[in-house]
Amino acid sequence: MSLIILKTGGSVITEKGSISRAREAEINRISTEIATFRKDSDSQIILVHGAGSFGHPQALKYKLKDGFDAQGAYLTHTSVKVLNSRVVEALNNAGIHALPVHPMSACLLENGKIIDFHLGQIKVMLEKGIIPVLHGDVVMDRATGTSVLSGDRIIPYLALSFKASMIGAGSDVDGVLDEKGSVIKKITPLNFLDLKKNIKGSGAIDVTGGMGGKVSELLELAGKGVDSRIFNASRKGIVSRFLYGEDVGTLISNK
Ligand SMILES: Nc1ncnc2c1ncn2[C@@H]1O[C@H](COP(=O)(O)OP(=O)(O)OP(=O)(O)O)[C@@H](O)[C@H]1O
Ligand SMILES: [Mg+2]
Repeated sequence: MSLIILKTGGSVITEKGSISRAREAEINRISTEIATFRKDSDSQIILVHGAGSFGHPQALKYKLKDGFDAQGAYLTHTSVKVLNSRVVEALNNAGIHALPVHPMSACLLENGKIIDFHLGQIKVMLEKGIIPVLHGDVVMDRATGTSVLSGDRIIPYLALSFKASMIGAGSDVDGVLDEKGSVIKKITPLNFLDLKKNIKGSGAIDVTGGMGGKVSELLELAGKGVDSRIFNASRKGIVSRFLYGEDVGTLISNK
């Protein structure tokens, strides 16, 4: 059975300019697009969502990128869990089964790198037709205390572990854009050398590198032979088109 890994950006499902403000209508719309596809297909789906304004501002305030802060870790994790509950609830309300998986409880990092990730529960959820819903999170790190684990870094790990057939990251832009604002149809390690000067961080608060961080995570995955796409999940119908295998946004590939 084929497996799809979909990330919905925090830039889409939250207001990144605010603190802890969800875009309920967007969460519901995307849940409906996923539910409609799910009822029509026997593909398995893992959903990963970004933290948006339910994590980035808190991680920034407590300087979680620079060092350990127990209070900051608690507040950041608590905040993103609220968003995760809303996403899981919306999927269930749309008529499909979804359950939360919190990286804080499932992962261990070393200097930001995943060294242990309990996947058994995700596997059983998939077998039972349930969508596991993970998210960017603050995670215990045996070198530094905690590290921020982005949704963008979770996707490649899961894609390789579960041999996913399609991987997509939906953000609030039509794809990776060139210096004129046009969508780059394909990024490879070769053309990235020319393109990278125009691929930057986020316009909003983002502690995980914005578009630059996303492209480098997905290029590393491409180097292992796994293609992925970056597309606009803010536009109605694009998540659905991605799930149905259409050519949306930017393809990240090794060649
Ligand atoms: N070349 C580029 N093409 C497209 N977007 C770019 C580019 N350079 C920088 N960006 C910025 O990257 C942003 C997307 O990254 P961002 O991390 O904010 O979103 P996200 O990953 O969807 O959200 P989250 O990290 O909360 O999940 C865009 O909104 C844009 O401002
Ligand atoms: Mg991001």
